[in-house]
Amino acid sequence: MSNQDRYAVFGNPIKQSKSPAIHSLFAQQCGQTMQYRAVRIELDDFERAASDFFAGGGAGLNVTIPFKQRAFEFAKVVSERARRAGAVNTLTRRGAGEVHGDNTDGVGLVRDMICNLGWSLQGRRILLLGAGGAARGVVEPLLRERPVELLIVNRTPERAAALASQFSEIGPVEGGAYELVGDRSFDILINATSTGLTDSMPDLSSNLITERSCCYDMVYGAEPTPFMRWGAREAAWAVADGLGMLVEQAAESFFIWRGVRPETRPVIHQLRAAMEAA
Ligand code: ATR
Repeated sequence: MSNQDRYAVFGNPIKQSKSPAIHSLFAQQCGQTMQYRAVRIELDDFERAASDFFAGGGAGLNVTIPFKQRAFEFAKVVSERARRAGAVNTLTRRGAGEVHGDNTDGVGLVRDMICNLGWSLQGRRILLLGAGGAARGVVEPLLRERPVELLIVNRTPERAAALASQFSEIGPVEGGAYELVGDRSFDILINATSTGLTDSMPDLSSNLITERSCCYDMVYGAEPTPFMRWGAREAAWAVADGLGMLVEQAAESFFIWRGVRPETRPVIHQLRAAMEAA
């Protein structure tokens, strides 16, 4: 294995990261020899650590909370989707040592919903809860699937309105306060707030859900999240957590780095089984 096969994920905290396990399963499956480590980076040290990593011949980095916006600033060149998201989760060393930034989160979410869960987004009404970093990365890929409507609601309404206006050229998107939902219902409801991390959820009314609605929480865990439990209580057609999104965004990064697309389903199943057994 050469230096060029060295990868890592930088974050803080990082202890719970499943990325090393995921990339190691991908590497085994695709016959790739590579190293992938999880590294906890001090909050003021991201730029130095990333520069050192690439200067030392490292091939690629995943970047997670709270460094995605700084990774965007760090990259010399960024993809169009990363530019729109204003955040980078994948850094890649190119030819002359130039570092390229991309964002695979949105594609990961959309692929999980469409390919793994069989939810269609075209012509659907989508509600996105939250307007922080997690929401920002998924707006464009969601709109590219041509929903009839994407409503972004947020505790701080201005953030949702600003996010929506930034993407209004791409599709029918509107943003503001939770009250904007009024008596409407939605086909796809996505929780991109950080409330699941504290075992809570935003206050939502039951009229949002019909028997055709699907609820997706970007957070995942061994137990259903509060948002998933709410969806199930309201008799949603399907509920899912974000484990599939995590694996799909990793697969897209792996593809960028190695030029091979791993099969994600067996990896999702393996992680799920390990999580449930723990
Ligand atoms: P992330 O990168 O995980 O999205 P973030 O950028 O801090 O983290 O964004 C967190 C999101 O969760 C925001 O949309 C936040 O709403 P505000 O913009 O009003 O802060 C939302 N959020 C966090 N706690 C919340 C709560 N108790 N109720 C509703 N929304 C909440």
